Amino acid sequence: MLAYVTGAAGFLGSHLCDRLLREGWAVAGIDNLVTGDARNLDAARRTGRFTLVEADVSLPWTWRDRLPGELSAPRLVLHFASPASPIDYGRLPLETLAVNALGTMHAVALARETGCRLVLASTSECYGDPLEHPQRETYWGNVNPIGLRACYDEAKRYAEAYLTSAVRATGIDGRIVRIFNTYGPRMRLDDGRVIPAFCGAALRGEPLTVFGDGAQTRSFCYVDDLVEGIYRLATLPGLAGRIVNVGNPGEFTVTELAGLVSALLGVPLRIERRPLPPDDPTRRRPDITLARDLLGWEPRVPLDQGLPPTIASFRERLPPA
Ligand SMILES: NC(=O)c1ccc[n+]([C@@H]2O[C@H](COP(=O)([O-])OP(=O)(O)OC[C@H]3O[C@@H](n4cnc5c(N)ncnc54)[C@H](O)[C@@H]3O)[C@@H](O)[C@H]2O)c1
Repeated sequence: MLAYVTGAAGFLGSHLCDRLLREGWAVAGIDNLVTGDARNLDAARRTGRFTLVEADVSLPWTWRDRLPGELSAPRLVLHFASPASPIDYGRLPLETLAVNALGTMHAVALARETGCRLVLASTSECYGDPLEHPQRETYWGNVNPIGLRACYDEAKRYAEAYLTSAVRATGIDGRIVRIFNTYGPRMRLDDGRVIPAFCGAALRGEPLTVFGDGAQTRSFCYVDDLVEGIYRLATLPGLAGRIVNVGNPGEFTVTELAGLVSALLGVPLRIERRPLPPDDPTRRRPDITLARDLLGWEPRVPLDQGLPPTIASFRERLPPA
């Protein structure tokens, strides 16, 4: 059984490759390394069943012609390529729009050609700054279409529209996972998201930067839990056209997170306040009823158990002072 994983060298893509390989799949990872790191794939390569294809999935997928025959027809495609953190998509807005529009179109074309199943990585950002709380899959969202986050939020909403239209119009087996904030080993320290930002600052002995009053909440899902949910969505039968939230409903304020990170690192809590950036959502929390019903899934790892291995991975990556 062969799977393609786009964005394989990234945080989530590399963990998904590891999981597929553990389950006996052969995997071809496609990545242009624009935000990823090939070192994330060291364990995958050691299996002997992993191939890295360096290519931009926004361009036509001509790289398939160069692959040996046994790597040309996947049973499953996980389309995870996309800059994902505000710092990355702020730096790469047009590339972000392209990979979610054109990259998704190429993935759909492959699903039509080969009959493979396709899972699209979408995001809780589709809900924008939500007016409904917690967010169910039926909520349409409250998104600024021209704001600083639009290149990501609207790109994902387009990708969702394209995939669901393709399922209806062509009968492909496409599925969508709306991922809520996820953390764990292999996150980049400099990606600007709140957990790496807090851990990096605390490890360097610097104050933790809190935007606004710190009362805004986030829910954080440990990567192993997320991968389990995605693996179930990708492999269970009868879920074509389904869109499922996967995330941890445990809600923490940013100030609570700062306290927890400092306590786990054994450093005094020092906070530096900055103004809230535009369009920063104030509350975000998944309703995971559908994931429970369809996938028999719920998260198992609480934040205080997921943070220590995450911090250990940041320690390994911290540049020497
Ligand atoms: N991490 C989260 O909390 C989170 C939350 C919601 C959604 N997601 C989605 O999950 C996916 C993976 O996110 P991540 O956190 O692992 O990000 P990441 O930046 O670590 O990984 C993305 C990978 O995609 C690759 N990539 C980007 N554009 C590409 C292109 N045009 N062609 C080929 N490769 C390309 C990058 O090099 C990188 O390896 C993204 O689609 C993201 O939108 C992530």
